[in-house]
This record gives sequence, structure tokens and C-alpha cells, in this order.
Amino acid sequence: MASVNKNYNKLQGAYLFSEIAKRAKDFMEKNPGIEIMRLGIGDTILPLTPTVIKGLKKGVEKLAKIKTYTGYGDTQGDIRLRNALVDFYKKRKIDLDQQEIFISDGAKSDSANIQSIFGLDNVVAIADPVYPVYLDSAVIAGRTGKFANGKYENLVYMECNEKNNFIPSPPKQKVDIIYLCNPNNPTGAVATKKQLKDFVDYALKNKAVIIFDAAYVEYISDESFPKSIYEIEGAKKCAIEINSFSKWAGFTGVRLGWTVVPMDLIAEEVKEGKINNVWARRQGSMFNGASNIAQEGALAALSVAGQKESKKIIAYYMSNATLIKKNLLKLGLKVFGGEHAPYIWLKNPDNLSSWEFFNKLLKEAHVVVTPGSGFGTQGEGYVRLTAFGNKQDIKKAIESIQESLKL
Ligand SMILES: Cc1ncc(COP(=O)(O)O)c(C=O)c1O
Repeated sequence: MASVNKNYNKLQGAYLFSEIAKRAKDFMEKNPGIEIMRLGIGDTILPLTPTVIKGLKKGVEKLAKIKTYTGYGDTQGDIRLRNALVDFYKKRKIDLDQQEIFISDGAKSDSANIQSIFGLDNVVAIADPVYPVYLDSAVIAGRTGKFANGKYENLVYMECNEKNNFIPSPPKQKVDIIYLCNPNNPTGAVATKKQLKDFVDYALKNKAVIIFDAAYVEYISDESFPKSIYEIEGAKKCAIEINSFSKWAGFTGVRLGWTVVPMDLIAEEVKEGKINNVWARRQGSMFNGASNIAQEGALAALSVAGQKESKKIIAYYMSNATLIKKNLLKLGLKVFGGEHAPYIWLKNPDNLSSWEFFNKLLKEAHVVVTPGSGFGTQGEGYVRLTAFGNKQDIKKAIESIQESLKL
């Protein structure tokens, strides 16, 4: 008889965004005519840039002719795109080989799938609060024990709070896999070189592997912060980097990302090259390569014109972030992030819980945000606001908060 993977029963609550959608829908049904304003969802809204559209069209047109038609491509990704990424890193003084780069359908799936190449007995550490996929995938894979007092057994939480400016420290105990999300979703915090070096030193000492989710690095506005874990000496021996075209080039719907598995990477009883080999085998067995159309779009995004255009997109979202942050500060609220990431991390007034403040904002200002507790226990008492929105809509939402929120 077939049975269901019981680890799914260990997952907590509904997926965060389904619960938010449900509450917003209930509110609208009970209050017909009231318009809801959304400052909660981490999805892009601006159209793809002209250069990317040209690339995508080229991809489509190639498929229309027998001479240029392609079916399955290289599972690891179009060699032209991998070479373009090699150049992309070279500009940051990082030398990679195209064999170390794996193109995928996005950072979310890669950050979950990458776990399958590591032993089930490996101990995983995650930041708290953080983007939920690292935790959920560890739970589903059966790497965690029971959920008790807001935490899973056999999982190490690296707490991020006001005391450490929302940047975690390496774990005190020995762990095997460390997820870092930098800049962080949801807090918007970004680590310095020294802070990342502490993690690299820890990983080298403990033969741990860092899985570095760099989905927001293009939002870093100050050159002194690293934009890749490989800017840290020794990181190629201990870190996998995952990135995406989603947030800086608008590919959330197009779907395209990449993962770097360096040849130098080592783990317990494993020589250089083996982990790269195992990931290639995993992808070869379970993935048929990313969309050829999306890859043409990504090549265009990486061109000089493409990158120039995407900077404008980033500037637009970050001007929204500044607008939100500035006005919330004016209301006397405690606000973090919003400088190197499109996320604003707001400490709730009057010690309200995340869902209490979510409900209050919805009821009084008709604004939907994301409860911080959905990202981990340390997120309790906070909400996340995002800059991914139309400026006019964001202005309206802020005005509504200023006029109607009872503080
Ligand atoms: C930290 C982080 N990584 C990855 C993703 C998803 O990236 P992709 O669209 O490439 O799957 C998100 C999306 O919100 C994210 O916040």
C-alpha cells in the first residue's frame, strides 16, 4: 500500500503566503468596497527590459525554424550562458570554470534540491528568521526531529535579532551544512566581509559546507559588502553559491537561476571535484535542463545593455524601499533593512505579535504585510514590508498607514 512521506506532517501551519491570502480574502468578503493595499509579497512587478525581451524573442524565433530549433539542451546549461556567468564573476575578480556553473529553473528549487547530495545524518544550520525553503526542505527530507517549543529537534538555529544587527554568528556546535541568505530575506540585513569570513573559517575548520543564497546581492548598494561568498579567501573549498535572475532581472515568472559548485569544494572523505560530480549526476538524473527560451533571455540580461537596464529596475525598487523606510521612521516606528535589499523589517509597536500587527494593519489601514513569525521564531514581533510595488500604490499604502493606523 502506498503511504505518504510522514515528514510532511511535521511541517508547521499552512504555507505562509497561503495563510496571508486567506486572511486578506476573508477581510475583503466581510468589507466589500474596501480596497486592500499590498506591501507583503516578494514578487517583482516591473516588466522585463527591452534587451531581455529581445533575447527571449530570439529564443522563440529559433524554435520556429527547423535549422535553429533545439529540443533538450545541455542539462548543465547552455555553454554560452555559463561562459557569460564566468565573465560576470570575473568582473568581481572571481575565477570560475564553466564546469562549476549549473543553470537551473530557479534558486528556490536548487536550494532545496542541493540537500539531496549530502548525507541524511548531516546536521543543518539555518538563520532565524529566514526564507522558509531551507527549513521546509530539511524537514521534508527527514533531517529534523519533532517540532517542540517553536523549534525542530536536530536543527541548529542561528539567531538574528537586534542585538547582532540581524547577522548570525557561526554555530557554537559542529554542524555540517550551513544555509546563509545574504542579503537576508526577510530582514534585509547584509553581512560584512569579516562576518562572512567567520563563516568560511568555521566551515573550513569543521569541514562544513555553506549554501550561500545570493538572490539579492545585486541590491547591495555599498561596494564594501561582498556580492559573492567567493570574495572570501578559502570559500571555494567550503561553499556552494546559489543565485537567480528573478529579483534583479524580473525573471520570477520566466524562471532561471544558477548554482556554483566549485571543483575545490570538499567534504568528509571526499576529494576535490567529487561534489561537483555528484551534483552533475543528480541534475542529470532528475532534471532535463532549463528552458532554452529563458536561457536566451538570461544571456541578454547579462549583456552590457541588459545589466544597465536592470540597474534601473533595482533603483526603482530601492527608491520604494527608501520611501517606505523614511515614512515609517517618521511615525516613530523601529525599522531595519531597506538599504541593501528590497525588504523592510519593522518592529511591531506595543509588543504586538506578528499576526496581531498584521491584523491591525489590515483592519485599520487596509494594508497587507508579511508576519515576521512566518520566517522563524526570532521573527515574532516583526512584520516584513517589500519594495516590490508600483510607486503610486506604495505611496497610497503609506498614506493610509499614516492616516489610519492607531499608534
Ligand atoms: C532568498 C531567496 N532565494 C530565492 C528565492 C527564489 O528565487 P527563484 O525565483 O530563482 O526560485 C527567493 C524568492 O523570494 C528568495 O527570497
